[in-house]
Amino acid sequence: MIPVNEPLIGAREEEYVLECLRTGWISSSGRFIERFEEGWATYCGQKFGIAVSNGTTALQVAVGCLGLKPGDLVIIPTFTIISCALAVIYNGGIPVLADCDPRTWCLSPEGVKEAVERETKKGNGHRLKAIMPVHIYGHPVDMDPLEELAEAYSLAIIEDAAEAHGTEYLSGRMGSSPAWKRCGGLGDLGVFSFYANKAITTGEGGMVITSNAIFAERARNLRNLCFLPEQRFLHTEAGHNFRMTNLQAAIGVAQLERIEAILEKKKAIGKAYCEHLKDIPSLQLPVEEPWAKSIYWMFGIVLHEDTDMNASQMAQRLRDKGIDTRPFFLGMHEQPVFQQMGLFGNEHYPVAERLARRGLYLPSGLTLTESQIDEVAEAVRDILS
Ligand SMILES: Cc1ncc(COP(=O)(O)O)c(C=O)c1O
Repeated sequence: MIPVNEPLIGAREEEYVLECLRTGWISSSGRFIERFEEGWATYCGQKFGIAVSNGTTALQVAVGCLGLKPGDLVIIPTFTIISCALAVIYNGGIPVLADCDPRTWCLSPEGVKEAVERETKKGNGHRLKAIMPVHIYGHPVDMDPLEELAEAYSLAIIEDAAEAHGTEYLSGRMGSSPAWKRCGGLGDLGVFSFYANKAITTGEGGMVITSNAIFAERARNLRNLCFLPEQRFLHTEAGHNFRMTNLQAAIGVAQLERIEAILEKKKAIGKAYCEHLKDIPSLQLPVEEPWAKSIYWMFGIVLHEDTDMNASQMAQRLRDKGIDTRPFFLGMHEQPVFQQMGLFGNEHYPVAERLARRGLYLPSGLTLTESQIDEVAEAVRDILS
């Protein structure tokens, strides 16, 4: 079976992890934690990094930095992982959904604008506090229009860059000084996951990055049970143990040392699939907008309506040929758990609904060989011909 992903762990990762084991720095203190936090924040263009246990807890801490009051609203894409919605709910807020762009599959700026205008008009006492753009499958969200909205309505931006390590966005392209910036470094807070299928991995792991010293301090406290610095076992707020271990950070530091090679390989896989599959009329492939440098974290395909197959049937046909795939996200508005909570009642988001039924992603891991890419592409072509 060609797997969807396999992590690529090198000699340097082994060396650094062994150092932790031999020196006894195996919990959440140690030199690799600081190096990883500083290194990753700097790479992304933010001042502070707060390493945590995974991307889900990173989102929870990032939303926690905003100090939501019960019922405050945060706009998130419906097409995302459940962690985004849970981060808002666990902080006492209410997620407000917006659809995604049919080309990039990322949060649609028009959808966000509609949601902002609708929610502000309601005047029901719920305050709109933030927007959470999610850079999907390695392609950036179009951030400029979101920044304008955030400015106009005093909203914070929390970027979920869990799938977009090293993805770049051309910021300010309509202005006089456009600049390429890395995802996670564009918002007030950026969030990453370092799960084993991510471009940079620590096994399990996550990070919040920010240039705001107050948010950074708050994130550090929330991650570590809100111990008071002046009196350790006195607590005035409820925090969490969301700490990352030095062992995990050791892997992250080693990965970061060769990030350029990792991203080059990811992009090469994406470009190779694009080349192989571009003339299959029944397939929609990932785009790379002129203002984007995608890392093709996972290579998604969307089946046109004229094929008689949906994504799960396609996945089965590929599995029969020894190729593993993963389905696209099912929108938050279609999740039974949220319906049971009385959220997103009769909401519909046609783009996300279509992607959930017609989209899947192909093997895209760093261990994938050229001949495996050929094999996957041939199998896709064969099934659709
Ligand atoms: C967009 C997005 N956000 C957040 C997460 C959560 O990260 P983790 O699995 O590390 O909790 C993921 C996980 O894959 C993700 O894809």
